[in-house]
Amino acid sequence: MRYLPINQIQQDMVLGQELYDGRGNLLLPKYTKLTEDHISYIIFHGITGLYIDDSFSKEAEIREVLEPEVRRETLRIVSKLFQRTLEGDTLTDPEEDALRKKVENVVSSVLDNPDVLYNLLELKTFDDYTYCHSTSVAVIAGVLGAKCCLNEEQLKDLVMAGFLHDIGKVYVDEDIINAPRRLTEAERAKVMDHPRLGYEFLKENYNFHETVNRSVYEHHEWYNGGGYPCRKKSQDILYLARILKVADVFDAMTSNRSYHSPYLPSEVMEYIMARSGMEFDPEVVDVATKELSVYPVGCEVELSNGAHALVIRNHRGYSLRPTIKQLETGEIMDLSDNRKSWSITITKLLM
Ligand SMILES: [Fe+2]
Repeated sequence: MRYLPINQIQQDMVLGQELYDGRGNLLLPKYTKLTEDHISYIIFHGITGLYIDDSFSKEAEIREVLEPEVRRETLRIVSKLFQRTLEGDTLTDPEEDALRKKVENVVSSVLDNPDVLYNLLELKTFDDYTYCHSTSVAVIAGVLGAKCCLNEEQLKDLVMAGFLHDIGKVYVDEDIINAPRRLTEAERAKVMDHPRLGYEFLKENYNFHETVNRSVYEHHEWYNGGGYPCRKKSQDILYLARILKVADVFDAMTSNRSYHSPYLPSEVMEYIMARSGMEFDPEVVDVATKELSVYPVGCEVELSNGAHALVIRNHRGYSLRPTIKQLETGEIMDLSDNRKSWSITITKLLM
């Protein structure tokens, strides 16, 4: 499979993944042969790139942390949670059980697949951004949390907090949240109140662990005390909230938003590393650099010798040195372990 930005998608290409919206509804099945109508439909949903199935990229196998079906079910229950909250209601008991079940699914997927790097090109539709974002943050946080040596109970709290972290945004006008302009002072204050609003809502309406509620409250605090709403600092911020912070920024920056186009995973990694110790906990940043793929499988990259190549495998701990397949020659090179290739570096992610 290879990943192509939407402007390079052409008629008759074969879809390499299932496409679904932010509520878990199937848009197009895997292996659909794309028509012009399909492409317009995909663009309409704000999808910025797709995995395509072709013979050249057959070695590039994407291993996702969550099976597509589990991800779809997760999106369904997360969107239900936000819908209910918007309507001033709470989840019914069976729905809350379903949400807890999804937390368990994410935690067991993370623990059962310790070798799978999180693929930062998780598909997101534009209209239901919040549900996709909350789901992705929960999974990224779970991946990071497992490597930050959290126990299973802590992991469950972290993943639940991932699903819930932005629930307070329900109380902020959507026009303000999606405003493609500079916010006024009053609007900014409203947006910056969403962690507190979420915390209050959860405390009043659900019986989640206090750790879950507090992680929601603290997910915008900065390691150096420069965040909001309480300007807490380093160890005073819950460890789970410090992990959540990294997961949140990773996912938000690689997503397509009305006020910014998606940044490349490699750019986001640079940003996070540059702000280690300032915005982010250095310990969590260190884990993130090992567990999240900077050059996701299926992407085209430019090499220091000028050639172009497709990333076909990532190696944990060596996120800058994946295995690649050169486009012109078809030669496969493992940049993490090849004496011939030590002088070759990746200079650019082409997306
Ligand atoms: Fe937030």
